[in-house]
Amino acid sequence: MPSDTQPLIASDLPPSWARALGDPAAFAREQNRLAQVWTMLGLTTDIPKDNDWIRASIGDRSVFVQRFGDAIRGFENRCAHRQFPLRTRDRGNGVIRCAFHHWQYDRQGRAIGIPRCPELFGVTPRELGASLCQIEIATCGTVIFGRFAMPGDTMTLEDYLGDGFHILAAITNLDKAPRHLVRPVKSNWQLPYQISMDDYHLVAVHPGSFGKNGYLTTGVTYFRYGANLDHSAYFPGAEDDAFGRMVQECRDGTYVPHRFRIFHFFPNFSAVMLKVPGFYFVMLIQCRGTAMDKTDVNVWYFPSPFQKDQKSRSQKAYEDAVAFFMPHYFTRVLGEDNRINEQHQAIARQIDSRQILGRHEWRVGWFMEAYERAMGREETPVASLWKAPAV
Ligand code: FES
Ligand SMILES: [Fe+2]
Repeated sequence: MPSDTQPLIASDLPPSWARALGDPAAFAREQNRLAQVWTMLGLTTDIPKDNDWIRASIGDRSVFVQRFGDAIRGFENRCAHRQFPLRTRDRGNGVIRCAFHHWQYDRQGRAIGIPRCPELFGVTPRELGASLCQIEIATCGTVIFGRFAMPGDTMTLEDYLGDGFHILAAITNLDKAPRHLVRPVKSNWQLPYQISMDDYHLVAVHPGSFGKNGYLTTGVTYFRYGANLDHSAYFPGAEDDAFGRMVQECRDGTYVPHRFRIFHFFPNFSAVMLKVPGFYFVMLIQCRGTAMDKTDVNVWYFPSPFQKDQKSRSQKAYEDAVAFFMPHYFTRVLGEDNRINEQHQAIARQIDSRQILGRHEWRVGWFMEAYERAMGREETPVASLWKAPAV
């Protein structure tokens, strides 16, 4: 870790992150490599009932996640027959049945219902043995993650998130679906994600929202955690053991929020504990890149679930009323950030890796390191869905 005032400059920073902002080939390469990284896909509260499903993406690949009783499974969103997308909306309920020729799949992704199969293919569906590409799925609290695991890559979600797993599990201990909003931004996904790790811009970009002194940056401690230290956290105050204590208290079920905190989970997900008068709010934020220069910033927000059994009805009613007005806050603060992101994107092709990062931007540099490691992975292959008939 650098000293408190030592800048991170050009030659210390990994080079590849900047290329994907303005070069479509670099963006495609990036998205291909990110398919192997555990990625937030949605919440279990999005799919409470049997056969509920949501569409999502991992890197540049469309996937869907479906509930089968107590099990949650994920598949690449393409039919084994002629590779039509099985899910063409963002969410729904129903068996896996392709709209193109009505092939139907079971919960293992096997094609079990194929119209006129013996007549047209000469074998039974079982003998044909066609199946979907299944993705690896795991949950942390109510958050669903998925990835395309390479052969031999056995890193579990818990290993990947490290100590952050216990914190995320505790702060997303929900029993009903939270409110959700989406903000489209005309910039590469890295820009809104990086700005959320930048505690230096508050005075210049948010003078009305955070005050002209940028109060969030006085007495700050940053932490890194998880596999390869890919993830990072912002804690106000200067207690070196604050992160470890929060992890232990979340594991013990004794944690009670008392400070503003931010947790980032590489590649594009974060969780914020925000103090509002009388209680704490949680915001889960994901910057989903939909194209090289387009991002959907997804925000899920809800009153902190800690001590929820001890909340009175009037407290819950008050928290609900505050929740109703939260989008005004998001619209204002994210709008201020996103204007900067879009102006930055306008010269994307000129941005290179040279940056001078000060103390309050360390986490941006840590993100770039994690990004560089992810880009060093082998190419994620496209799985062949068709397998030779078993006869
Ligand atoms: S492409 Fe899906 S059934 Fe033909
Ligand atoms: Fe900001």
